[in-house]
Amino acid sequence: MRGALIDVVVDSYRELTPRIREYRLRRADGLVLPPSSPGDHIELHTTSADLGAIVRHYSIIGGQGLVDDSPNIYRIAVQRENHQRGSAHIHETFAPGTNLQISRPIRNFPLDFRDHRTLLIAGGIGITPIYAMARSLVRRGRDFQLVYVGKRAGDLAYADEVANLCGERARFHYSASSTPSRLDVAHLLANQSEATRVYVCGPASMIEAVHLAAASLGWSEDRVRSERFGAGPSPDDMPFEVQLKRSGRTIGVRRDASILDALTGAGVDLLSDCRRGECGLCAVPVCEAEGGIDHRDRYFDEAEHAKGAAMCICVSRARGSRLVLDI
Ligand SMILES: Cc1cc2nc3c(=O)[nH]c(=O)nc-3n(C[C@H](O)[C@H](O)[C@H](O)COP(=O)(O)OP(=O)(O)OC[C@H]3O[C@@H](n4cnc5c(N)ncnc54)[C@H](O)[C@@H]3O)c2cc1C
Ligand code: FES
Repeated sequence: MRGALIDVVVDSYRELTPRIREYRLRRADGLVLPPSSPGDHIELHTTSADLGAIVRHYSIIGGQGLVDDSPNIYRIAVQRENHQRGSAHIHETFAPGTNLQISRPIRNFPLDFRDHRTLLIAGGIGITPIYAMARSLVRRGRDFQLVYVGKRAGDLAYADEVANLCGERARFHYSASSTPSRLDVAHLLANQSEATRVYVCGPASMIEAVHLAAASLGWSEDRVRSERFGAGPSPDDMPFEVQLKRSGRTIGVRRDASILDALTGAGVDLLSDCRRGECGLCAVPVCEAEGGIDHRDRYFDEAEHAKGAAMCICVSRARGSRLVLDI
């Protein structure tokens, strides 16, 4: 969690596509919200009767076209995923007047204005931070190109806004068109100048492809910045129980919830940040893991995974039916 949370209320919402809704969140006390920069996101805290406490991250869009939101508003867009979890809860229950809490803006995907040229690549809902970046680059008169990839035109949030804002600098690629094709990332990167820096947000496979293409062209790692929207449960995940050694409590983890979600929902106060197995902030010591640990993080190395002394509970799971944690 990031410092004190801020009380906000849903001011309004609109449908961007059949699966994506934009929400405008207004500060409940009428004061201004902390300023944000392109690429920033918030932690959104809400509660569901079925799931308990829910924490999810959403990028701040900042406004529409070149018009900024007023300083007491954050605008986010939420894609409903195909299961009854956090995003479904938001779509089903958030309406004008709904109260919730958010963190201050979190800056993990900053736009560097010193770059001479910028290539923005968005896949699907990954447009949210990329649109915020494009708004900023247009306003500053910077040289950039935006490539927006999706299955079909109707699936793409902010497609009209992006086209109007960016004009010829925007290119749309539909992977499920009459001649289905994947974006040729290697070709796209090979045609960039040496001064170009790339910002990519979208499916993990697209992000990996961009990093691989950059590496094979001999680019330095810092020329590609990426943001992944997180890990989710796997279809063959099973429920299990977590015993907390220090308090003696036992808490059930559903097949479709992370350990972090289950413990937080049960009122256990825990640290977390990225929620996708990268930062290590949620790591906790393990006393016993029946059947072993299914490590899914990228924070610990192979030797640490094999040792199994600790695990990142935002993504990793127990292989057996019982896990004992030293918390
Ligand atoms: C920096 C950042 C910015 C984001 N911006 C946006 C945005 O602008 N718009 C948008 O629609 N989405 C965004 N997301 C994704 C968003 O936070 C949610 O993950 C998404 O809405 C799906 O939530 P869900 O609960 O419906 O789906 P789920 O996939 O069910 O939930 C994702 C959650 O699953 C849990 N989980 C992870 N691994 C496991 C596991 N192994 N077993 C069980 N549970 C697991 C985690 O708690 C994770 O938060 C962003 C994510 C990040 C990290
Ligand atoms: S919260 Fe970052 S690794 Fe778990």
